[in-house]
Parts: sequence; structure tokens; C-alpha cells
Amino acid sequence: MKPVTLTTLKEMRRRGEKITCLTAYDYSFASLLDNAGIDMIMVGDSLGMVMQGHETTLPVSVADMAYHSRCVARGTKRALIITDMPFMSYQQSPSHAFASAGRLMQKGGAQVVKLEGGETMAETVRFLVERGVPVCAHLGLTPQSVHQLGGYRVQGRETTSAERIRQDARILQEAGASLLVLEAVPAELAKSITAELDIPTIGIGAGKDCDGQVLVLHDMLGIYPRPSPKFSRNFMHDASSIEAAVKSYIAAVRSGAFPGPEHCFNS
Ligand code: KIV
Repeated sequence: MKPVTLTTLKEMRRRGEKITCLTAYDYSFASLLDNAGIDMIMVGDSLGMVMQGHETTLPVSVADMAYHSRCVARGTKRALIITDMPFMSYQQSPSHAFASAGRLMQKGGAQVVKLEGGETMAETVRFLVERGVPVCAHLGLTPQSVHQLGGYRVQGRETTSAERIRQDARILQEAGASLLVLEAVPAELAKSITAELDIPTIGIGAGKDCDGQVLVLHDMLGIYPRPSPKFSRNFMHDASSIEAAVKSYIAAVRSGAFPGPEHCFNS
């Protein structure tokens, strides 16, 4: 069983094979996802909401991320592990970001770190990549900016904001990002950004034309007690076990059956 690397993901993109990703925050779920054949496990700072019960991802610390990432790493043999840089751990300066990323890789077993933001993060992305830290960028609805965005809203619906996201995507690729998460943006915008870039795009509420898909595990299993976003689907509805639900998600992403039009946004 060959481990998934960034090269594997690039080849999958070239071959038009969809990349599958789910979040996980502990050993048992990571192990289940890995055995089910998921390509990437994202240790998202969504753990602040689904594991810790906060209203937002803002209270999550580097120590929290390193702890959960380490638990996930123990359960993972094949999938690539992407760990979120939490709020306040990378925005201050590139060297601060490097120190935080180092902790997530050394203590948390992260193989790629993810950070939110556009052009203003380009210098940081370059700084990390030049020093051997692979980076996944995150554009569109960036939950760490929830207060600035005025809530969890679809981004890039107007021409100006769509062009901003498109330009940010190019700049972050140029700065060295290896992957790009696009969250809650119109499907047509995600499709055209995916076509323009050379790096794989991973969508969440960004339509079916991204190179891969990610969902928050607790949403797709229907175990988060608060309402789930429109772009998620409860895969437990038609499944007899958690393992079956995860396998059905993987199959639906690979075949293009998920996301359907009901999970997408228009301009
Ligand atoms: O925090 C998270 O889980 C995420 C994704 C779902 C994209 O950022």
C-alpha cells in the first residue's frame, strides 16, 4: 500500500481522477478513513466546533492542532495528512508561521500545513515552502475571518470578489502552494480557477469540477448537533455503518455523483 504524496495527487489531477478527503481529529476515525481508502485526511481547525463545541474556529491553538494531528497520524498509514494552522499562529510574520508549522510537523506528524488567506499570505507561503514546509492554501469562505466576512457566507458571487479570488489563487500557486482548498464559492468560478491552475483544487461547497472534495466528517455522518451547511450531505442516511458511509462518500466523489447541483452555489 503506497502512501499518498503530493506527487500522487498531481498525477491524479493529470489523469482526471478525483481526490477524496475528509476531516478527522482522532486515531480511530483516522484509521477507519485510511482503511476505507481516503486519499487525504485533513485535521481541520473545524475541530474547535465539532470536537470542542466552540461557535467558531478562532479559539483553537497550535497545541490543540498538534495534539489532534498526532492522534490522526498514529491511525494513518496511507493517506496524506494536512493539518490546519490555527488563527493567530501564522498571520503575524513568516517566521512566526514557520515556528508554528514546525510544531505541527514535528509534534503533530503533519505532512502539509493549510493556511487561510490570499495575496497577503503569499510572502508567508513562499517563506514556508522555501524552507521545506508544503502548504495548502484556502480561499473563498475562510472561517477564521468569519467576523470580517459577516458570517458563514458564500464568497465570490460578484465580479469583483470573484476576480479577487481568481487572482489570489494564481498568486498563491506562484508563491509555491501545492494545493488549494476552495470553500463556498460559485461552482462556475471554482471550475474556471481549477482549469487555470496547475495545482490540485479541493472543493467544499465549490461544485463538482474541483480536482477533489473535502467534507467535515461530523457533517457527513450527521453527528454534529448544529445545522450542517447546504453543501454537505449526510452519507449515514443510506448506510448501515460508519465504514459504509465513508466508502459511499469516496465512491460518490470518485464517480462525480457528489457534489450534486443541490450542494452547489451559483453566481
Ligand atoms: O477546518 C476544516 O475542517 C477545513 C475544511 C473542511 C476545509 O478547513
